[in-house]
Amino acid sequence: MTFRSFAFGLTTTFGAAWLAVVIVPFFLMRTPKPVSFDETKDGKEGIYHPKRAGRVINGAEVYSANGCYHCHTQLIRPTYAGNDLGRPDWAGLKTDEARGDTRRESNIFDYTGEKFAQIGLNRLGPDLSNVGRRVEAIYAKDADPEAWLLMHLYDPRANPERPTSTCPSFRFLFDEVKVQGQAPANALPVQAPEGEAIVPSHEALALVEYLLSLKRDDTVPASISHAPATKPAEAKPAAAAPQG
Ligand code: HEC
Repeated sequence: MTFRSFAFGLTTTFGAAWLAVVIVPFFLMRTPKPVSFDETKDGKEGIYHPKRAGRVINGAEVYSANGCYHCHTQLIRPTYAGNDLGRPDWAGLKTDEARGDTRRESNIFDYTGEKFAQIGLNRLGPDLSNVGRRVEAIYAKDADPEAWLLMHLYDPRANPERPTSTCPSFRFLFDEVKVQGQAPANALPVQAPEGEAIVPSHEALALVEYLLSLKRDDTVPASISHAPATKPAEAKPAAAAPQG
């Protein structure tokens, strides 16, 4: 084998893989085309609009800078690649008070507004695709979701229900401020040195806004869902089967 054919073979082998795995998906997913609902399959018409509120970009930066993605995924795999829909409340709520079963797989629109899709590296902690929903509906049901998340970031083990949590504490995202008289309204309910209070920094607040924006359980068109939950339109024929 000449050096030329060796170099050519090497370049082609790696080049083809690079094209197929990096370049082509990049251009396909960079600007996804809008997807429409289908009257027969989804029971409604119109374009699917993913909605998200809060300082997503700033929060996502804090999220990646602190390596949350090392232990937390944000990816509810399509059912053919693993069963994530069955994990308790990861993919949405099994029994959402207003909407019933909202569990669904991730899709490309779930990362709208973020520079990187933080799908994560490991699953040492729970998937966070729907952490905003879980905190609001379950963990901080009758309390302030923002305060719940701030306390979790400050000291995960302070929560009486999670004394052995292995989520690191991110105290450096909080500031100690001097207090004269009344403590500031956003002070954490924790022991602080005399005459001081612990308050969240801008980073902590942006991160919490980002975490609260993670509610990826809206209804998506059946065409981008590999395992659509039983939709009324699909359930009907079975219910109308001849009886007797
Ligand atoms: C070393 C691995 C690790 C890192 C890094 C990590 N976590 Fe965690 N996290 C965990 C584990 C394990 C749990 C589950 C234990 C618990 O409930 O506290 C958890 C739980 C959580 C929960 C509660 C989720 C739920 O539904 O119960 C939130 C929110 C969270 N982490 C946010 C973060 C954020 C934000 C960061 C980055 C600033 C982060 N974590 C970094 C391991 C990690």
